[in-house]
Amino acid sequence: MSHSPKFWAVVPAAGVGKRMNADRPKQYLPLAGKTVIEQTLTSLLRAEVFSAISVAISAEDPYWPELAIAKHSQVVTAPGGRERADSVLSGLMVLGGQAEERDWVLVHDAARPCLTSHDIHRLINTLMDDPVGGILALPSHDTLKDVQSQTIFGTLDRSHVWRALTPQMFRYGMLRAALQAAAGNPAVTDEASALELQGWQPKIVEGRPDNIKITRPEDLPLAQFYLQQAQWGEQA
Ligand code: C5P
Repeated sequence: MSHSPKFWAVVPAAGVGKRMNADRPKQYLPLAGKTVIEQTLTSLLRAEVFSAISVAISAEDPYWPELAIAKHSQVVTAPGGRERADSVLSGLMVLGGQAEERDWVLVHDAARPCLTSHDIHRLINTLMDDPVGGILALPSHDTLKDVQSQTIFGTLDRSHVWRALTPQMFRYGMLRAALQAAAGNPAVTDEASALELQGWQPKIVEGRPDNIKITRPEDLPLAQFYLQQAQWGEQA
């Protein structure tokens, strides 16, 4: 008898985040009373849809075992990989005994702490009956230039260009196969690109612009502002 698919989350968190110039990986920097990764995992737990959240952590990471959330009953730890795609595949493998091929997996960057339940539910509700799945994305409001050696070679048609965010939502079996096939390919910087290489055409769902990725030092105060705004919104 077929039953409705479950939802799982995979959080790649094994990067070092060199662009932050900090003394520790960016996911462990303080943000609004917690660390960045605690804010991110709390945003996923708050949605109350995931059977488990698989977090890929580097073997040399001394910070993760110190966090209470690492022992949360819905959180499992997976070994991190060389590239982001390797970490995601490792996160999927750890769910192997429990997840079914047709279950949905939402992959979300550890470095995106301002994700709202609204965006998670919108992604799920829009794509639940889709054969492939898709991603949160944002249209580009800036004019986009094709540049090499600081010289403009052309202007891209921005009506066709969207910025890929996370979560990215795909079927467990299809995503695992696509990431296995893409192993070692440097062009695979998100899950959708691995599916695209297999000939699939993932959908986009417009996300909120406050779902920023912490990349540079100035992103932290901005993320703190967004988190505080969201809290006020909940209390109002
Ligand atoms: O470096 P970037 O911001 O693009 O990384 C996106 C996400 O992928 C981060 O959450 C980072 O921790 C994760 N990552 C990983 N394993 C790697 C490299 C990055 O889990 N080898």
